[in-house]
Amino acid sequence: MKGLILSGGTGTRLRPLTYTRAKQLVPVANKPVLFYGLEAILASGIRDIGIIVGDTCREIMEAVGDGTRWGAKITYIQQDAPLGLAHAVLTARDYLKDDSFVMYLGDNLILDGITSLVNEFRNSKANAQILLAKVPNPQQFGVAELDNNTIVRLVEKPADPKSDLALVGVYMFDKSIFSASERIKPSARNELEITDAIQELINMGLKVDPHIVNGWWKDTGKLEDMLEANRMVLDRLKPVNQGEVDDKTVIDHKVVIEEGAVIQRSYLRGPAIIGKNTKIIDSYIGPFTSIQSDSIVRNAEIEHSIVCEHARIEDIGVRIEDSLIGRSVELRKTDVLPKAYRFVLGDRSVVGIL
Ligand code: G1P
Repeated sequence: MKGLILSGGTGTRLRPLTYTRAKQLVPVANKPVLFYGLEAILASGIRDIGIIVGDTCREIMEAVGDGTRWGAKITYIQQDAPLGLAHAVLTARDYLKDDSFVMYLGDNLILDGITSLVNEFRNSKANAQILLAKVPNPQQFGVAELDNNTIVRLVEKPADPKSDLALVGVYMFDKSIFSASERIKPSARNELEITDAIQELINMGLKVDPHIVNGWWKDTGKLEDMLEANRMVLDRLKPVNQGEVDDKTVIDHKVVIEEGAVIQRSYLRGPAIIGKNTKIIDSYIGPFTSIQSDSIVRNAEIEHSIVCEHARIEDIGVRIEDSLIGRSVELRKTDVLPKAYRFVLGDRSVVGIL
């Protein structure tokens, strides 16, 4: 079996960060969200992985490389325009050939991995296997209508959903998905929808197995979802200290301190992660916070936030929370203190606070 990771798309719901970087590279617990999918595929034993890339192709290639570091072979496949997930499958046809494959949307995160699901598909006679999860807002997903664990119908983003079972962004296919993808027409958003292609497999009389996912799953397309993903992953990390922590610092609960980090006169309440060569001085880092590498936090309080690399946050009199702060952002005190700061700042933003 091969893997196919989709890492194109424009990431409009994560602007402004996605003006300057691929949405799949936004970090969750200091690791690009894309790497979780990649590692889940590798854990299932697959070593031959194609990555579909679009405009952000250079950045993705730089971050992932050729796969050597994972003992894998990575092939990049350019999709010229974001014309849908089924279009991406057709674009990858020369790479996939006649092999079965698992397709993973690069901004999705399944905490329990996919190994057992891949094995289930390998041992089944199904032409496709889809994963479903109950969601409160099915209108925003592909939705499945089931009857006794048999799929009755799949509809992409229905205005009037017939169930609360959303299609998770991980799919397993054999080669019949190519002919199904060729038979469908573009949707209202002018995309060849994978949901329609899977419905077409059913129309063709082929076997599509549904599997309901009970563990935690997220499509990290929006800020709240990124923060939730960060929470879930941080909560599972084992505490480790590879940095320098002075004796005036208090570390409470699980905190990961990466190599070269320096912590002085601070209070770190985990779960949290402090990245390589980051300095935390006279500050409070609260639960569910990730500070990436080479950043400085001085005389500030941050909680439930993601801070990307090379950020500089100093002399902020009010706690920062629920924020996603891009690379090389500078945030420093000026005068007046509002009660809370809630930021979504693009990479290289410089903010002067009143
Ligand atoms: C895509 C699929 C949708 C699926 C979702 C999962 O949506 O079209 O069926 O439920 O991924 O993340 P999109 O991210 O393109 O809105």
